[in-house]
Amino acid sequence: MNTLIKNGTIITSKRSFNSDVYISEGKIVQLKESLNILEPIDKTIDASGKLIFPGGIDPHVHMHLPSPAGYSIDDFELGSKAALLGGTTTLLDFVTPQKGQSLIDALIDRKAEADNSLCDYSFHVSPVEWTSSTEQEIKDCIESGITSFKVYMAYKDSIGLDDENILKVMKVVGKAGGIVTLHCELGDDIDTFREELGRIGNLSPNFHPVSRPDYTEVEAVKNAIEMAKNANCPIYIVHTSCEESINYIKEAQKAGQQVYSETCPQYLLLDDSKYKGNFNDTCKYVMSPPLRKKEDQEILWESIKKGIVKTVGTDHCPFSLEQKNQGKTDFRKIPNGAGGVEHRMSLLYTYGVLEKRISLNQFVDVTSTQAAKIFGLYPQKGEIAVGSDADLVVWNPKSESTISVENHHQNCDLEIYEGFKTIGAPEIVISNGNMVVENEKLISNQKGRFLKRLV
Ligand code: URP
Ligand code: ZN
Ligand code: ZN
Repeated sequence: MNTLIKNGTIITSKRSFNSDVYISEGKIVQLKESLNILEPIDKTIDASGKLIFPGGIDPHVHMHLPSPAGYSIDDFELGSKAALLGGTTTLLDFVTPQKGQSLIDALIDRKAEADNSLCDYSFHVSPVEWTSSTEQEIKDCIESGITSFKVYMAYKDSIGLDDENILKVMKVVGKAGGIVTLHCELGDDIDTFREELGRIGNLSPNFHPVSRPDYTEVEAVKNAIEMAKNANCPIYIVHTSCEESINYIKEAQKAGQQVYSETCPQYLLLDDSKYKGNFNDTCKYVMSPPLRKKEDQEILWESIKKGIVKTVGTDHCPFSLEQKNQGKTDFRKIPNGAGGVEHRMSLLYTYGVLEKRISLNQFVDVTSTQAAKIFGLYPQKGEIAVGSDADLVVWNPKSESTISVENHHQNCDLEIYEGFKTIGAPEIVISNGNMVVENEKLISNQKGRFLKRLV
């Protein structure tokens, strides 16, 4: 398949320029103004008035995540369709083994679950315990193309690891040239708050944020940075949500430590006032960390602008109202998480670029390029250059929409961005050289590929 995109404005993380793009066999093969192609062209796209971005990379999604309330309800097929419609062509999901299962066996199982993904994909692999074979299992995963390992400082009763074992993971991963990503919340303190709230009968979703105050994230971030320094391991802090966490991250970065930070649209655009109201209105915002104060939002936007926060992922993990209802009388039983993979690019464009909080190049950096660089995919992904995969978004900057449960493609009857207006949308999405979205509609069932990453 040979495709020529004419007259577009290319936006990369570094520069903006007018150019045609010639794509063949899944790769970008020429990039120049007024290209004259002599070989037969299957498809010519006129991108006059449009912007061309590298396909989005969402570094943090949980498709088909098991929970006591059932699986998160976007599986890889449905979730990746929503992602493509939103301009995201690559997903980084997770491998969470059962206790007793090896990391590599869990990786094989997860790959099978992701086989119907329409986006390209890879995984962060989570050691959920430390055994005599964990070091070798980490090395086996690296051999199989995994470069990032995720640890949870919260959720101590299931997948969380204590600090002693986190340090062991960091030492092994750091030595092997990989990166550890962390869910930073003090699990023990949170468990104590949850027990106390249960004891006094404060069990509506209004108390979810009370059980996870800022300091439980901030202190965990501080500890994670300290451990990573001792272990000499690069780290990536997922879903950073508040000002004081940013302060610690900024300090570590200034001192030359390899500490990367991610935030999510929910922490940039929604605040803790969403926890006021009845169960049906509030349960969809039960996620961890919880939504924070309005003042934290501007700090997060500024941190993106200054390059302290490197990426915006979604933590896409939608549950239906029926699933959330499992915690109708006890917020501790509400499955944590919300959807967002479809809206990440349009929200960032509308509320970041158009509101002049970030530049167009920064938009590309945080939605694509940095994730590729941090997680061993660059310049195959995250770039518009000769030789890179032809994952491209032809962005219509004039398309207007309003996010709603009525029109979204995420497989969920809840929508945390209900009523948000967006300007700008992916009119055409090209994945591995083939058009998969045209006129904002999915037109292909092309399967994605597992991406082998390199340390
Ligand atoms: O509430 C959340 N974030 N659910 C998904 C799992 C996680 O902690 O990332
Ligand atoms: Zn998390
Ligand atoms: Zn997550």
